[in-house]
Amino acid sequence: MHFLMRSNTKQFLFWSKHLYRTCTSRTLASEAKEKIAYSEMMQRRQQQATRSIVVQVQSENSFPELYNYCASFGEILSAHHYRIQQEEEQHYILLEFGNAQEASAAITASAYNDELSSVPAHSPFLWFRATSGKRALKAAAKSIKATLAVVNGTTMLDSNALTDLLCAAPNLDKQILYLHQHTQLNDLGVRLRFLAALQVQQAVSGMFPNANAQPFGSSVNGFGRMGCDLDLILRFDREVVGATTVQQRNQESRLVFHTKENLTNGRSQTQRQMESIGDMLHLFLPGVCHVRRILQARVPIIKYHHEHLNLEVDLSMSNLTGFYMSELLYMFGELDERVRPLTFSIRRWAQACGLTNPSPGRWITNFSLTCLVIYFLQQLKHPILPIINSMMKSATSDDIRLTEDGINCSFSRDFERIGFRCRNTSQLSELLLQFFEFYSQFDFHNRAISLNEGRAIAKPDHSALYIVNPLEQVLNVSKNVSLEECERLRIEVRNAAWVLESEVENPSQPESEGAQLAWGILHLFKSNEKSIIRPNMFFKPRMVDVSQLFDSEDADSPTTSVEFK
Ligand code: GTP
Ligand code: MG
Repeated sequence: MHFLMRSNTKQFLFWSKHLYRTCTSRTLASEAKEKIAYSEMMQRRQQQATRSIVVQVQSENSFPELYNYCASFGEILSAHHYRIQQEEEQHYILLEFGNAQEASAAITASAYNDELSSVPAHSPFLWFRATSGKRALKAAAKSIKATLAVVNGTTMLDSNALTDLLCAAPNLDKQILYLHQHTQLNDLGVRLRFLAALQVQQAVSGMFPNANAQPFGSSVNGFGRMGCDLDLILRFDREVVGATTVQQRNQESRLVFHTKENLTNGRSQTQRQMESIGDMLHLFLPGVCHVRRILQARVPIIKYHHEHLNLEVDLSMSNLTGFYMSELLYMFGELDERVRPLTFSIRRWAQACGLTNPSPGRWITNFSLTCLVIYFLQQLKHPILPIINSMMKSATSDDIRLTEDGINCSFSRDFERIGFRCRNTSQLSELLLQFFEFYSQFDFHNRAISLNEGRAIAKPDHSALYIVNPLEQVLNVSKNVSLEECERLRIEVRNAAWVLESEVENPSQPESEGAQLAWGILHLFKSNEKSIIRPNMFFKPRMVDVSQLFDSEDADSPTTSVEFK
């Protein structure tokens, strides 16, 4: 019997339904699909991480032996293999136990390597000492019926394979869907990210038993691609998931903790705390390497690489609005199944024509692009998404969230209560073309975009691109975007509309003999040099003077980066 299905079939079905939901664009708007509240999704994923361990093995062939050994600690619900290409190929298996006690029994029973002098830290990251010879391996393989649920689970589709896949799609709508389905962060990717969060949380839990480290951003909002970075917020109390229990206890208990007084300047306090946390991660946590502190940015962060997860992590301690914004994005993605596939195509197009760039700078970010998509979907004659003001208006007392700076992040978390009904039945391909046409006409010079009101408003200042920050409405999400980059955006959306128009008119795979020709959205993903209109000024090398990012109040732009030695 299949390993994953041995037990807890319900749980498996839940995740497969949630993560591998396939859809056809015809049924998108009308089909009532199960929507899962963000807090519930986060809670389930956090619990799943507490039941899991990651074990380095020689290869996936070690699985039967590992299974036999670990089954003595408890029931194993699922096993997922992945590999990381370093100097040598490294293999890992994530094992999910029946409950957190069983996983922690496996961790507690683990040994230290006598041959190495190392810091004796406990964590869910282990390696498996292979002892048996070939004969024992065969015997182990024979004795268990379980198989790996996933093999090579973090391997990304290479661009040639993706191109072939999109070429073979029957029509443009399917191309957009396939791109999303085959490049989105998968279940294993999410599991590994929640384990990275749990490792940090457990590391500080001795001093802060209420500490909570939670992924946010594209790792959890459903807009993440395979290989995306992990944004992590660490709080010393449980504030992130609703402050009620802490508040209640603070009011009721007559025994009160003696504590250290906070410095008067909250920001420098946070910076110093983050410095210590960065040191601690660097010195004690297995897998954590290349730790850098970027403490002068608007949101101070510690960046590091996790070598057992092949993951870049941005850890912050004071970015609650970012966290709540992820919840809003998650809800927008859940509200209509067209939102994420559409956004994936637009992000890919922006990347291909060089509008976005992995390093922070004066170009548009993926987050700002997503805001452009959401606004476009709100302002349609038959809107596909509600405006944020209506989500705020339908908030109840359970939805009240205030950050420590008093920023109001209250909006209804209940899909039904928002009361939004979508009557728009447009196909994905139509929406993609309309997106490009809409922004070809948009008056970026005079108008600012408000997702709160779902309309364009007068620009409050001279920023090239102005998108009102939905949770801090005095700020501009895209303040970092230069005039030159905004102009490039205008030109590229026009080019894209022009390219796509003929594809939408002939939305099916072209008849071709022999090799498949690139068609449909693939024409949008041609690299920068092949763009049609391109004044010379836009070919300037895209280096950025980091000091110019200092005045950006609202871009997560690092100002200085210090690597830990
Ligand atoms: P990628 O990392 O590019 O895959 O996308 P991302 O959505 O994770 O973006 P990023 O890492 O830049 O930011 C993480 C999250 O922080 C976003 O998803 C938003 O929820 C939030 N965020 C980013 N920039 C802003 C901003 O300017 N204002 C607010 N309120 N939230 C932001
Ligand atoms: Mg991110």
